[in-house]
Formats: sequence, structure tokens, C-alpha cells
Amino acid sequence: MLGLMVALLLMCTAFPAGAETGEKSQAIQIPNPSADLWREVRQREALISGKSQVKGVDSGTLINPYGQQWREFRMSQLIPYGGYFLAGVLILLALFYAVRGKVKVNAGLGDKKLFRYTLYERMIHWFIASVFLFLAITGLVLLFGRSLLIPVMGQAYFSLLASACKEGHNLFGPVFAVALLLVFIRFVRRNIYQKGDLTWLLKGGGIVGKGHVPSHFFNMGEKSMFWILVLVGAVIVGSGLILVFPVFGQARMTMELSHVSHAITTLLMIAVILGHIYIGSVGMEGALDGMTTGYCDLNWAREHHAEWAARCEQEGEVLTESEVARLRGERMAQASPPGVQEVGQ
Ligand code: HEM
Repeated sequence: MLGLMVALLLMCTAFPAGAETGEKSQAIQIPNPSADLWREVRQREALISGKSQVKGVDSGTLINPYGQQWREFRMSQLIPYGGYFLAGVLILLALFYAVRGKVKVNAGLGDKKLFRYTLYERMIHWFIASVFLFLAITGLVLLFGRSLLIPVMGQAYFSLLASACKEGHNLFGPVFAVALLLVFIRFVRRNIYQKGDLTWLLKGGGIVGKGHVPSHFFNMGEKSMFWILVLVGAVIVGSGLILVFPVFGQARMTMELSHVSHAITTLLMIAVILGHIYIGSVGMEGALDGMTTGYCDLNWAREHHAEWAARCEQEGEVLTESEVARLRGERMAQASPPGVQEVGQ
């Protein structure tokens, strides 16, 4: 009897501890149902294809190790090195500005003007510029947001921002393709390389150093920016369409490759456009006028686009400020609806 009581006592005290260790050992012993699959994925270097009754592009793919490779590339190379690259470009531009300062018009801005861009040309320029900037910002949020923004704004707000950026990016991506086509058609003729362009490049475009380097309507730098925009832009648009519309029968691997080429080409393009924005705004006196008002300063044109300026002067196209004001007023009146014209007159 005593033996039975001792045995019962021991069982009661030992039960909880026994249950705990039993649970632990059970938890350790139950194999992860996906472990075999992941072990296979890590060991395989090629796709494992099988047969499936499910109809779909990738439904016969049993194991795709490239997905894991793509994820690792994105997380451990694309994001950190892409970030350093863009930060490096910004630092270089800031250093360049600190050393070189604003490129001034040596003769000073005068009161004579040349007509440079039509309203349509300015409209498509600012159209592509705003769409590009919107896509660049939303794309950068999607690429770097997890690392840079979650610590600042928290997961909940970042998730809202990231969803909005994703929808906006997908919506305006195809709009960029239209803008690129319009810019290409309008500006291609003036961006064909000509004799003399290489001299401009060899002399540093007048930005490095002091002397004036003659150039045509667009200089070699602008022409190269245009061709990078068109050619790299075509890759960005193509890869973007593959990512947004998965209806072309593309498999996951195609999507992974498209994502990588989309991200790399876009980072390159953002770097080029940062240089363009720099030189078109704070970097050079008088550069922005043509793209905002349609007219540029004659002295600026003589110093940066000498051959074009000389042709315009020979053909008597130089305008005074009052002529420009009158012409702009006439154009505004023509562009306004009749009611507005009457009030204005
Ligand atoms: C938002 C900031 C931007 C500023 C301040 C800016 C400024 C300028 C200026 C001043 C010009 C005229 C240069 C000249 O008359 O010689 C120009 C031309 C041009 N810009 Fe921009 N731009 C900006 C953004 C962009 C973006 C984002 C793109 C394209 C994605 C772009 C594409 C172009 C093109 C294609 C030209 C004509 C140059 C050529 O065809 O060679 N711009 N820009």
C-alpha cells in the first residue's frame, strides 16, 4: 500500500515535468514538412520539371532554385550596392558643384533672345520629366523602403505607402512608354550625331576647363543623354511591361530576369537623369530658360551652342525682350479659350 502511495505521489509530481520534456522532444522530433523541399531547392542547380494537371506556365516546375538566387541577389547585392551607387552619384554632383560652382554666362545674361522650344516641346519635356520622377520615387520606395523607411515610419505606415507606390508605379509605367515615344519622335532629328560633336566631348564640353566649345542645337552630352534615355528607356519599358502584365506566357524565371534588368537599368537611368537635372538647373546659368519660357538668352546660346546661335543670327532670328513679351502674349492669347481672350484684351 505504502509502495502504491509513493508510486502515485511520484507520478503526480513527475507528470508536469514529464509532459514538458515530452512536448519538447516531440517538437524536436516532428520534421518540418517543407524541410525536404527546401533541402532539395538548395542543393539543385537547375529546374526540376514534372507533370501537372494544372494548366499554367510554371505548373510543371517542381523546384525552381533560381527564385532563391534572385531573392538573395536582390537583398544582398542589388539593394546595398544600388544604394551606394545612387548615394555616390549625389555626393559626386555635390562635390562637383562645390568645386566648379555654377557655370556662368561669361558675357552675362543680356536682353537679346533666341526662340528655342515650342510649347508642344516644352509640354512633352515636362510630361516625361514628371512621369519619370514619379516612377523613380515610387520605384525607389519599393526597392529601398524596407531598409530605409520602416525604421523611420514603422511597418503599418510603410505598408500603406508601399501599396500606394506599387499601384501608382504600375499605373504610370505604361504612361512613361507613351511619353518616351513622343519625346523620341519630336527630338530624334536634332540628336543625330554630327561632325564636331566629338571635339565638344574631347574638350570636356566647356564644363571641365574654361574655354567655350562650339556645338549645334544639342551638344554631344545632350545627344548622348537622349540616346541613353531612348535605348535604356526601351529596356526599362520592355522589362516593366513584362512585370506588370504577366499575360505574355512568361515564366517565373523570365519575371526574375526582367526584375533584375529593370532595376539595374533604372538605377543607371536615374544617375544619368540626376546629372541632367543638375546641369539643367543649378549647374548652369541660363540653361533652364529655354525649357520654361521657350526662349533662351543670346549670350548663353553663343557660349554653349555657338554654331546654332551663329545660324540663328545670320538668319535674323534674334529677338528683343519686348518682342519676346509680345510674341508670348500672342501665343497665350491663341492658346486660351475665347472667353479668356476677351477678358485679357
Ligand atoms: C525635373 C528636372 C529637369 C530639369 C530641370 C530639366 C531641364 C532641362 C533643360 C533645361 C533642357 C534644355 C537644355 C537645352 O536647351 O539645351 C532639357 C532638355 C531635355 N530633357 Fe530635361 N530636365 C528635367 C528632367 C528631365 C527628365 C526626367 C527627362 C527624361 C526622363 C528629361 C529629358 C530631356 C530631354 C530628352 C531633353 C532634350 C535634350 C535632347 O533631346 O538632347 N528631362 N531638360
